[in-house]
Amino acid sequence: MKILANKKIILGVTGGIAAYKSAILTRQLIELGVNVRVVMTESAQAFITPLTFQALSGNPVSLDLLDESAEAAMGHIELAKWADLILIAPASANFIARLANGLADDLLTTLCIATQAPIAVAPAMNQQMWAARPTQRNLNLIREDKRIILGPATGQQACGDVGLGRMLEPEQICQLLPQIFAPQILRNKHLVITAGPTREPLDPVRYISNHSSGKMGYALAQAALAYGAQVTLVSGPCDLPCPQGAKRIMVESAEQMLAACQQNITGDNIFIACAAVADYQYSQPAQQKIKKQQAELTLTFTRNPDILATIAKQKERPFCVGFAAETQHVESYARGKLNSKNLDMIVANDVSDPTIGFNSNQNAVTLLWHDGQQSFSAADKLDLSYELLTIINQHYEKKHSIKNS
Ligand code: C5P
Repeated sequence: MKILANKKIILGVTGGIAAYKSAILTRQLIELGVNVRVVMTESAQAFITPLTFQALSGNPVSLDLLDESAEAAMGHIELAKWADLILIAPASANFIARLANGLADDLLTTLCIATQAPIAVAPAMNQQMWAARPTQRNLNLIREDKRIILGPATGQQACGDVGLGRMLEPEQICQLLPQIFAPQILRNKHLVITAGPTREPLDPVRYISNHSSGKMGYALAQAALAYGAQVTLVSGPCDLPCPQGAKRIMVESAEQMLAACQQNITGDNIFIACAAVADYQYSQPAQQKIKKQQAELTLTFTRNPDILATIAKQKERPFCVGFAAETQHVESYARGKLNSKNLDMIVANDVSDPTIGFNSNQNAVTLLWHDGQQSFSAADKLDLSYELLTIINQHYEKKHSIKNS
């Protein structure tokens, strides 16, 4: 399921230094299969040329409401009807003020009142301008008009100030857009997802771990957010950025992961255990670095708690979904775990194939439940996550309606 593929987005670029990031945004949208038409305000053209956007979007760039040749190609009303979304990034303080007041004094503002499509703005301005009362008043007005506000982020600004007002990064904007189009099937539902590896310390500088990249769990979190869920992501060490809108708890060991899950899970949640948890921990992690004095070193390991099985045993038990990474007899081993760990569903994947599973961007899995199963052929982990969550949600709702009836 490619939520943004073939969507028609007008990217409005207004005057601000963040306009250079809109070139990258255009490229990323194109890579996601979006049909992009760029509309620039006059002041945007002082920062970046229309030619850049034309080359990146593969479409002519519209600049002026009163341009006869542009109107002949696609008139402003036609353009307003064409769009599935108008995304203004960067949106300057001045543009937000004009949008809030319904002005139609240039092409972009006119499109905004001529369209029925949703409108999203990614503000970008100096922190003082962001905090200014008129700006906040205008933001409240556009919120009331059901415009979607993406960001801004906080941090170092082009002018040297530090604070709120930076435009979100293009990849963060791309992560948030599916929420506008995806069915909100997980609205008012809370998902707790474990992801990545765990690290079990040997001494202050060494640990044992595994090759899990965290990509599958993070993709599930991102897809759940797009479906409107509240997401808590309990993550082992990995370099992936926190999905926009998730509450992320970083942990190291299996015991820490269990504690974080127990503190955050309630009985009505959906719990998806995607982490590759170390099965054993070193019995006595050394206080000081272990020195290479002996020719051989023998370490004794003790079993780690099984996080998923522990949670699935609780009295107030969430809807539990496990993952089974196997190298042979994939489905039968997974079905064994579905039963032995007392799960509602389990996702089985064959990690012997290097093109899918660990570290790869793709995965092919079978989702199993007690009286059925469904296979999904190799797909991008994010696309696969949308498919998996649709089925998981159907089973969750069925179980809850039975419970509540
Ligand atoms: O038993 P196995 O490790 O194959 O089970 C895999 C499933 O159990 C995964 O969902 C994994 O996240 C979970 N698990 C866990 N705690 C462990 C080991 C596995 O939650 N200690």
